[in-house]
Amino acid sequence: MHQDIEEILITKEEIQERVKKLADELREEYTNLQPLCICVLKGAVPFMADLTRAMDISLEMDFMAVSSYGASTQSSGVVRIIKDLEASVEGRHVLIVEDIIDSGLTLSYLIDLLKARNAKSVKVVTLLDKPERRKTNLSPDYFGFSIPNKFIVGYGMDYAEKYRNLPYIGVLKEELYRS
Ligand code: PRP
Ligand code: MN
Ligand code: MG
Repeated sequence: MHQDIEEILITKEEIQERVKKLADELREEYTNLQPLCICVLKGAVPFMADLTRAMDISLEMDFMAVSSYGASTQSSGVVRIIKDLEASVEGRHVLIVEDIIDSGLTLSYLIDLLKARNAKSVKVVTLLDKPERRKTNLSPDYFGFSIPNKFIVGYGMDYAEKYRNLPYIGVLKEELYRS
């Protein structure tokens, strides 16, 4: 285990098992629909890679980077597009792939945007859901694990851009972010 990690919340094996099950459900829904899977950079990269391979159907991938900014550490719900999609979503079945839903502000903005661009359907799959922190009434169509309000990193999730490559999801030692 990495020295900065207090405890492992979800092991590599638990992630892989859950991702397979989600992929099975998504295969049912999206076979023959040629979905456009949209990875929200950067956190969703490992989940996107594992999930889409496990889905094992014909699909397309695109990538989007957004940043929410506002007063202090709290997100204002104002989202800025850092990197837009290359594909047109018009008439497409879109699946947004996220690593975690926290306040839900990033996703509710994205969903509205993709609907405004005339996607045929817009659904959300997230590996993790932190419902305690929600500030919108958004709930994911598919989620892997519902988790408590702890400071977690790994499997795409960062603290100051570190730890994204950990193969498990761990709780960060408190002394590293309290100062
Ligand atoms: C994190 C996470 C989600 C978003 C969730 O991304 O990966 O995309 O925040 O927060 P919300 O539900 O409160 O909007 P972040 O903005 O840290 O960017 P990153 O993926 O590049 O780390
Ligand atoms: Mn993110
Ligand atoms: Mg981040």
